[in-house]
Amino acid sequence: MPPPDPLPLVTRAPVIPVLTVDRVADAVPLARALVAGGLPVLEVTLRTPAALEAIAAIAAAMPQAIVGAGTVTEPKDVAEAVEAGARFLVSPGTPAELAAAMADAPVPCLPGCATVAEAMALAARGFSVLKFFPAEASGGVRWLKAVAAPLPALRFCPTGGIDGGNAADYLALPNVAAVGGSWVAPRDALAAGDFARITELARQAAALGR
Ligand code: 3PG
Repeated sequence: MPPPDPLPLVTRAPVIPVLTVDRVADAVPLARALVAGGLPVLEVTLRTPAALEAIAAIAAAMPQAIVGAGTVTEPKDVAEAVEAGARFLVSPGTPAELAAAMADAPVPCLPGCATVAEAMALAARGFSVLKFFPAEASGGVRWLKAVAAPLPALRFCPTGGIDGGNAADYLALPNVAAVGGSWVAPRDALAAGDFARITELARQAAALGR
């Protein structure tokens, strides 16, 4: 059986906020601010000790949000994130063992790639939507345009170096399902508890359309 299709989830909004949460107490107010701005699909990176608890808190408090785990780098992260309540998984790159674990995951996955060969290996495993990371550093819009003809079945979620200034260029491409980025939840705004600013950034991002 092919892995669960992430496309319905990924296309709920043009932008998937990439969140790094240091304090569990910030998780739900942050999610509320982003959902209020029109971004219901949220990626919490597994980069902090608080990440799994943050995912669990958002999943419990906010059924209207779709919370997933990002920076999945090891096979064990797959089970831990799903157990915490992650409804999708994202990796920055996808070595073979991680690809195997993601292929068996019960939730949709966006495995990361940065080259055509990596994209082809993931397509061969049945993945149809891939994270393209680090997007700007790996060729950005030009890369995505160039691979559209040889890889017609694949859609991408580019992430890395994307912000309000260039997101629309990515979203204009037919093989881009959504973009990911941390710009909608700046760490200084989070540290200051400035959730109104985060809602406003989310509103602008949601208005980018596709
Ligand atoms: C990621 O984990 O996908 C990236 O770190 C997000 O990249 P950005 O901070 O450049 O948006």
